[in-house]
Amino acid sequence: MADLLLWVPWVLLSLLFIYLLDLLAQSSRHLPPGPRPLPFIGSLHLLGDQPHRSLAVLAKKYGPLMSLRLGAVTTVVVSSPEVAREFLQKHDAVFAARSVPEAARDHARNSVPWLPPGAKWRALRKIMATELFAPHRLDALHHLRQEKVDELVSHVGRLAREGAPVDIGRVAFTTSLNLLSRTIFSRDLTSLDDHGASKDFQQLITDIMEAAGSPNLSDFFPALAAVDLQGLRRRLTRLFARLHRLFDGEIDKRRTLRGRNTGKRGVTDKKEDDFLEDLFAAGSDTSSSTVEWAMAELLQNPIRMDKVCNELVQIIGSRRKIEESEIGQLPYLQAVIKETFRLHPPVPLLLPRQATTTIQVLDYIIPKGAKVLINVWAMGRDIDIWSEPEKFMPERFLERSTDFKGGDLELIPFGAGRRICPGMPLAVRMVHVVIASLLIHFKWRLPVEVEGNRIDMTEKFGVTLAKAIPLCVMATST
Ligand code: HEM
Repeated sequence: MADLLLWVPWVLLSLLFIYLLDLLAQSSRHLPPGPRPLPFIGSLHLLGDQPHRSLAVLAKKYGPLMSLRLGAVTTVVVSSPEVAREFLQKHDAVFAARSVPEAARDHARNSVPWLPPGAKWRALRKIMATELFAPHRLDALHHLRQEKVDELVSHVGRLAREGAPVDIGRVAFTTSLNLLSRTIFSRDLTSLDDHGASKDFQQLITDIMEAAGSPNLSDFFPALAAVDLQGLRRRLTRLFARLHRLFDGEIDKRRTLRGRNTGKRGVTDKKEDDFLEDLFAAGSDTSSSTVEWAMAELLQNPIRMDKVCNELVQIIGSRRKIEESEIGQLPYLQAVIKETFRLHPPVPLLLPRQATTTIQVLDYIIPKGAKVLINVWAMGRDIDIWSEPEKFMPERFLERSTDFKGGDLELIPFGAGRRICPGMPLAVRMVHVVIASLLIHFKWRLPVEVEGNRIDMTEKFGVTLAKAIPLCVMATST
């Protein structure tokens, strides 16, 4: 025992030596500035449970291009449009690879969001661009989506007649799922009245987003990944297995149908299932949270609520049915949605990129393998870009031509460059039409018990930034 104690000071001294060497190496590597890391954990203790907010505060001190050591991993955080342009446009090819979360590693092999930018990824992106989300394809299935929007309106109408509150996130989620399903399978996955199935889907996708977005020790200390200390990989594997089972029935039906049409029997292809599941996971939660945040902001801003409703009455009038092709005639509604994306980007840090080679960006060196986070949430609230950034003011977008399609780096809720969200053309249609339909057909108010207070706008961080307290409101048919 006494012998063992003799070793303790030596071990401590050696660790201190390694730490100092690491600090020295870091300063000689010309990394972007950042907080001085503690031994072993680096700056992990600074992240908290709202990393997008903690990183925004740190960027105020260290600048829009900063580096942090999170555990053993060098992480670069971008917080301004000028720096984002360097990463997403100028050096897009170097940063087109993803840093894959350890928990999703098994699933990632056939998953568009996590695949490396090679042949398989290019082929799947091509299918999406030409077969699923090309404008003429979306136009062709417009009538199928319209039926689902009609169902949303009659479902909310029923709740209004019963005097029951409407959980906006839930109805928007089921509707998004069905709009995606009608676009991808030409048929339904769930129904609004079918509480069991759609609730299962929503819970499952929320759980997947949370598990994939939770800070995981395996990501910060890759040497420990095999142990899966927090059990997140096992959890995500179980969740994906459940999602597979839920989808299997639907995919089988579709194959049988296709088999009948082509005379060939459908073959089970797990890779294709993974690809399709990813689209539902990537598209439903992001779209429905946009609807929920937009409605929450409008309910808190009655003047803006009146403005958007008046525009709808003027353009849509007594027909009371909005077509996807009419979105272009609704500039104030478009401004409301841009403002919602600015304040509540559904994917606040985009999906993490990784440097495929060591490269100089501006005056700094970004080492090969560094993880890159683009803090679009911080950019949306930057006072140097937006006046009164904390306020919900859609009018600001009537005066500037900023769009969210990847060209204007100050507003990139869908990302930019070659990894930009491929589902954007569908998401834009869904979000505008769902919000417009909820506003054309109903007047909205808060339940009496909430009315005196403001709506709780607390965020819950995951891959998607959800509203922590669901928005439940009362509707009256107009
Ligand atoms: C409001 C709705 C949506 C938002 C805000 C959103 C946002 C994003 C963001 C930020 C990324 C990462 C981009 C980057 O790293 O630069 C992404 C990727 C992706 N999104 Fe979306 N998305 C939405 C809807 C959809 C829909 C409807 C689909 C498909 C049905 C979809 C499918 C995907 C896929 C497959 C990727 C991975 C692309 C890749 O890595 O190559 N998204 N999305």
